[in-house]
Amino acid sequence: MATCGSLCCDGGFDKDGVSTTRTIESCLPLPLPVEILEDIVPKAKDFAILHGAGMRYRTNYDPDSLQLAPFFLLPSAFPRREFERVVKLQSIVNILMHRIAHDYQFLKDALEKTIKVDDFTRRLWDIYTTVREEGVSQEMSLGLVRSDVMLTKCQAGCCELCQTPPFVTVHQVEVNTIASGFGHMGPISGSINRYVLGELRKPELLGHLPENDALAGLCGGMIAAWDAYGCPKAVILFVVEDVTYNICDQRFHEYEIRRQRPDIHVIRRNLTQISQQGCLTSDKRLIIDGDEIAVVYFRAGYEPGQYHSEAEWEARLTVERSKAIKSPSIHYHLAGTKKVQQEIARPGVLNKFLSDSEAKLVSQLFTGLYTLDMSPEGDQAVQMAMENPERFVLKPQREGGGNNVYGQEIRTVLEKIKDSQEREAYILMDRIRPPIQQNYLIRAHEPVKLVEVVSELGIFGTILGTAKDIQFSKFAGHMLRTKLSSVNEGGVAAGLGALDSVFLFD
Ligand SMILES: Nc1ncnc2c1ncn2[C@@H]1O[C@H](COP(=O)(O)OP(=O)(O)OP(=O)(O)O)[C@@H](O)[C@H]1O
Ligand SMILES: [Mg+2]
Repeated sequence: MATCGSLCCDGGFDKDGVSTTRTIESCLPLPLPVEILEDIVPKAKDFAILHGAGMRYRTNYDPDSLQLAPFFLLPSAFPRREFERVVKLQSIVNILMHRIAHDYQFLKDALEKTIKVDDFTRRLWDIYTTVREEGVSQEMSLGLVRSDVMLTKCQAGCCELCQTPPFVTVHQVEVNTIASGFGHMGPISGSINRYVLGELRKPELLGHLPENDALAGLCGGMIAAWDAYGCPKAVILFVVEDVTYNICDQRFHEYEIRRQRPDIHVIRRNLTQISQQGCLTSDKRLIIDGDEIAVVYFRAGYEPGQYHSEAEWEARLTVERSKAIKSPSIHYHLAGTKKVQQEIARPGVLNKFLSDSEAKLVSQLFTGLYTLDMSPEGDQAVQMAMENPERFVLKPQREGGGNNVYGQEIRTVLEKIKDSQEREAYILMDRIRPPIQQNYLIRAHEPVKLVEVVSELGIFGTILGTAKDIQFSKFAGHMLRTKLSSVNEGGVAAGLGALDSVFLFD
């Protein structure tokens, strides 16, 4: 019998020459006997819903009830070496994002062409320049970031990391600087999987599941920012969607702040409400409904649909003008765009922001990223993608999932835009092919299913500081989202992915 985590490759290849059959063995031999499954699944569902692994119903929204969030019965095997590597790197990744956010010229050069064709990014950029020209009233920013990575086996055994066991390495999908969710769902998924292993009478396996203090870490970041603001009566503002489906993941942040600091109050408002109830004092304090705001935590504002009219844009500008410490401030939001990510991956750029040794470590996370600018370099990328669309992902400047283009669809989209500047709204990225493993998918109102899956690990980081002075930069926990190996994107709220946790193997 193969042991957990052992990696097999039986030599099947897809038409791009990428092995299709790399698999990772699960933490337990599968399938589980039917009688065991029949016993454990209802217990796991009860544990999940009773610990806040829930979401609001998308259809038939009902404020009085919650639907079970989809989750995997068992933790997914993940190589310890790679997990520890990204955990250790996170504080450097935070600092990188912080320095990029504070480099006006770099952001300007990186986004110059994008903002000519992407209206959403241009509006963010306009807010940034307005605030900059007026004089920034709050020098301090709070970064609550999440670096998303996937396991991959480099195609030609191309680096030192994929040449030694477990013959895989991680590559970064992106770094999120706004609304980095799953600070609650990440740790809760670990609790569900721990409970399940306990009920399966496998306590000896529990040591493979790493601690996960994401909720405490992210909320600790907000509390540190609140302290730095220095006004005991001021509150924390969560900027939220009009309707929040992923309610547990937000509310538990509020409860954790209350647990850590009963003296701090949190209020929630959407952008429309901020436009109606928010104002600035002459010294730029942000007041909402009589409360002074110390810290603004954006869980919305990252997609065009959340700005219904000019009023919501005005609201965002009001917040950015204010003295409140923002997570993210507008320049942090811009630093997290896909175009900036692609520019950072150019040779030599990391060395502008990090020491040579740090730059080397971070660069090992990167996979191929290509500009689609109207230039010979961009032409070459277009040609490459048209010839081999399965090897790439085409990405617009959007967040929140469901916007990227995959496979043959890349050809269709590029065919339309390849000769116009419209293509500069996108970037091209190598498609990461994570190894497959099996797990039991549990979804509300559906029978449990043994399925083939791939995982994406999110590493949280917190950072607080000004351009010149960083007060702290920390690793702040993790989350794992797992999806069917057959789908392109695995949004949990969209129903394509599910909550999961890591089972470390050596
Ligand atoms: N290079 C890639 N290779 C393979 N899959 C990818 C790649 N880039 C993105 N994906 C898939 O698409 C999903 C969304 O991609 P990405 O994170 O770039 O977009 P997003 O809209 O910012 O999503 P999020 O809301 O998670 O921040 C990822 O979670 C991953 O499943
Ligand atoms: Mg994102």
